[in-house]
Amino acid sequence: MEIKAIRGFNDILPDEIGKWQFVEKNAREVFEGFGFSEIRIPILERTELFSRGIGEATDIVEKEMYTFTDRSGNSLTLRPEATASMARAYLEHQLYTFDPVAKLYCIGPMFRYERPQKGRYRQFYQIDAEVFGVENPMVDAEVIVMLVRFLRRVGLEKLELQLNTLGDRNCRPRYREELKRFLMNKSFQLCEDCQRRLQTNPLRIFDCKVETCQEAIADAPKVSDFVCSECQKHFDKVKEYLEMAGLEYILNPRMVRGLDYYTRTAFEVVSYQLGSQNAVAGGGRYDNLFQEIGGLEIPGIGFAVGMERLVSLLPKDKVFVSYPHLFIAALGEEPLKEAYRMINQLHLDGIRAELDYEGKSLKSQMRRADKLKARYVLILGEDELKRGKAALRNMGTKSQEEISIDKLSEILKSKIL
Ligand code: HAM
Repeated sequence: MEIKAIRGFNDILPDEIGKWQFVEKNAREVFEGFGFSEIRIPILERTELFSRGIGEATDIVEKEMYTFTDRSGNSLTLRPEATASMARAYLEHQLYTFDPVAKLYCIGPMFRYERPQKGRYRQFYQIDAEVFGVENPMVDAEVIVMLVRFLRRVGLEKLELQLNTLGDRNCRPRYREELKRFLMNKSFQLCEDCQRRLQTNPLRIFDCKVETCQEAIADAPKVSDFVCSECQKHFDKVKEYLEMAGLEYILNPRMVRGLDYYTRTAFEVVSYQLGSQNAVAGGGRYDNLFQEIGGLEIPGIGFAVGMERLVSLLPKDKVFVSYPHLFIAALGEEPLKEAYRMINQLHLDGIRAELDYEGKSLKSQMRRADKLKARYVLILGEDELKRGKAALRNMGTKSQEEISIDKLSEILKSKIL
C-alpha cells in the first residue's frame, strides 16, 4: 500500500516554495530592521513548559498537544507554539545578563491536534517575534507596527487590526467572577465543554464556536469594562502610539485569545478573504508567563503569523517561481561534455542553467526548454563547437544570434542579471 502523509500535515512543493521563501526573506529583512535577531529553538520540549506556560485549562493543552513519553519516561510535547520555548531559552541562557531587553524572532513548524480544514492544519508554520524585558506600552505599539509593516510589504491588503485589553492579575479575577456569575444563569445553553469551562476558565467560552454558547455570551460583560486604572492607562498609551504611527485599528472587546498567558494588550490581524479561520496573526502582552514557567518577573510581548494563511493571501499576479536563465541544448557527445563544463562555470557566476542529460533530439530538447520556461537556449552543435561558437536563442522574442562560447557568461550576465 502506498504510504501517504499524515492528515493535517502538508508537503510544500517546489512550485509553492518561492512564496514561502519570499515571505521568510521579507520577515527577516523587516524584523532585523527593527532590531530583532533570529533564535532557533527545539521542536520538542518538556510537556510542563506548555501546560504551565499556555495554561492547563486551554484547548491547546487540554486536547491539542502531541504529547508522548520518551524511552526514559519523560513526558515530551511537540511545540504547539513558540513563545513559551523562547521565554525558556531566554531564561536558560540568561540572555538578560547581556541586555535586559531581547528582541527575538523564530520561524518554524508548530503542531496542534486540531480538526483539519482550510487554513487549519496539524502541522503549520509560524513566524514569531517577541520582545522580552520591556513594560512600556511603546513597545506594544512598536511590535504591532512591525507586524503590519511586514504584512503590507509582502502585498497583503484589506487587513483589519483588532485590539483589546485583557487586564492583569489585579483586575482580571474580578472580571472572571462577573463573567461566571453572568453565565451561571445561562448555563443550560452552554455545550458540555463550556459547562466545564464555566468552572475552570470561563474566558475560554468566548472561543467556543457552538451557536448556543455564542448566543449565551452575546451580551456578557466586557473585560475592557473591568480593567483597573493602570491597565487602562497602558491601553490608552498603546492606542496613542498606534495613532502616532498612522495605524488604524478596531476595538474588539470579545477577542480574548486562546492562550492563558496574556495580560493587557491583545491583538489579531484578520482578513475577510480567509473564510472562517480568518486570523493571519495574533499576539499580545504576557507579563506573567516567565513566572509561570519558573523564572523571574519579566514582561513580554509578541505575535505569531500563520504562514499557510499568509501565503494563501499573497497577490495572485506576482510570480514566485524562479525559472532557468539558460537551457543548453547539446547535440552530440563532445557538445554534451562541453555543456557540462560550461554549466559548472555558469552556476558559479550566478546563472541558473539546465541541460539535457539524455542526448535527445533538438526538437525534444527545445520542447523541454519551453516547458521549464527557460529564458534563453544555447544550441551547441559539433561544427559550431569546433569554431568556438554556438547559437543563443531568446525564447521570448524567438530571435537567435551566433555568439562566441567564451563570451557566454558575460553576454548572459548583461542580459539577465
Ligand atoms: P495563536 O493565535 O494560537 O497564537 O496562533 C497565531 C497564528 O498562527 C494564528 O493567527 C494563525 O494564523 C496561525 N495558526 C494557529 N493555529 C493554526 C493551525 N492549526 N493551522 C494553521 N495556522 C494556525 C500563538 O501561537 C501565540 N504564541 C502568538 C504569540 C506570540 N503571542 C505572543 N507572542
